[in-house]
Amino acid sequence: MNHNFNKRMGEKIVSVSELVKLACENFERKFGGVARYCGCAPGRVNLIGEHIDYNDGFVLPMALPLVTVMVGCPTNSSRCRVLTLSNHADHSMFAEFDLPSLESPLKPGIPAWANYVKGVVANFNGQNSLCGFDAVVSSSVPVGGGLSSSAALEAATYTFLEALCGALPTVSLTDKALICQKAEHDFPGMPCGIMDQFIAFMGKMDHALLVDCRSLESRLVPFKNPEVTILITNSNVRHSLTGSEYPTRRRNCEEAARIMGKKSLRDVTLENLEDFQNKLTEEMYRQVHHVVMEIHRTKQSAEALEAGDYKMFGKWMFESHESLSKDYKVSCPELDELVKVVANVEGVYGSRMTGAGFGGCTVTLLKTAVVQEAINEIKSKYHGHPTFYVCHPGDGARVINL
Ligand code: ADP
Ligand code: GAL
Repeated sequence: MNHNFNKRMGEKIVSVSELVKLACENFERKFGGVARYCGCAPGRVNLIGEHIDYNDGFVLPMALPLVTVMVGCPTNSSRCRVLTLSNHADHSMFAEFDLPSLESPLKPGIPAWANYVKGVVANFNGQNSLCGFDAVVSSSVPVGGGLSSSAALEAATYTFLEALCGALPTVSLTDKALICQKAEHDFPGMPCGIMDQFIAFMGKMDHALLVDCRSLESRLVPFKNPEVTILITNSNVRHSLTGSEYPTRRRNCEEAARIMGKKSLRDVTLENLEDFQNKLTEEMYRQVHHVVMEIHRTKQSAEALEAGDYKMFGKWMFESHESLSKDYKVSCPELDELVKVVANVEGVYGSRMTGAGFGGCTVTLLKTAVVQEAINEIKSKYHGHPTFYVCHPGDGARVINL
């Protein structure tokens, strides 16, 4: 994608080589010496299938050209020192800790951002090969914007550690995703599903990925058409509800499945739901309704995308947003406004909130020819301060040779 295109239409996406250069320069400044290893992993946008992964259903994310890189070197001690260049880091941009041992396992602490790194170090598959390291993190993924900067940080850390340790037994991409998910559960304490880590490792240029979150089987869905574009709009609001509401939604879903005698909501049909209407609270009923319908929409959407039926795909996107807003109740006025405003632009196929919700981003599928018009419309009507990313699917985590 050429730079002028992005400069004119949305934020300029910093190239991976620029990010690596920045990280390496800061490495020299902070630690002295030259960084030798680099792990890189993408943020993601979920096209459809929201709040579905932890219900064993289907999701359809794609990896972004927005990435996180970690560069660094091994040291002769067990000390790990990490500097992030993100200005969203809490407490301090610098963190240090010792490699875990039997006597003193790693524990979460402060700064909170380093818990994502520590969690991966603690769960890394190859503990015996681990050595202390100095590292610098730089990223083009907006932090806390619902594009999964956290999973990008985890996957970049994992990939960096692999490069650092050299020859290791092969670990499948699925297992790496599961390890990073466990890291997020154990350290920051976020009971996330598998989607973000999965796509961070398995994303592929020009493809979306249909993931069956029960079997963990996945299918790449080709998505390459110069006439069609993904526009990500960051509302630049983040309501503090996400932290508490996410685990509550997850628990409610598990409880509803239990009441209906099912292993998970994946096994529930609309008919089952009607049978149990009197046994569920109104809130639970609506949430289950979202899940059952969203699983259906996601499967249909993958087929529509494959067939190049963007109109149908867009229809599912709008329905998904409506359901997330009215039934699952994870949207917010800003996201609703962004979807409503862009829906009026001729050439927009569909739009919806993406990620956990309560702020963050919307994802819009539209004709490339109307991207600028859509941006202008949002800029003139949206009451907040949006930023835009014009994207096509990028690759998953990889080692970059320095
Ligand atoms: P997102 O949707 O971006 O994943 P989360 O709230 O789940 O939002 O995760 C964001 C958190 O991840 C940040 O608050 C920070 O702790 C951590 N994080 C992500 N990227 C970075 C980075 N480049 N440097 C430091 N911390 C990061
Ligand atoms: C994310 C979470 C994912 C998924 C998503 C909602 O933030 O990490 O696992 O549940 O919210 O679809």
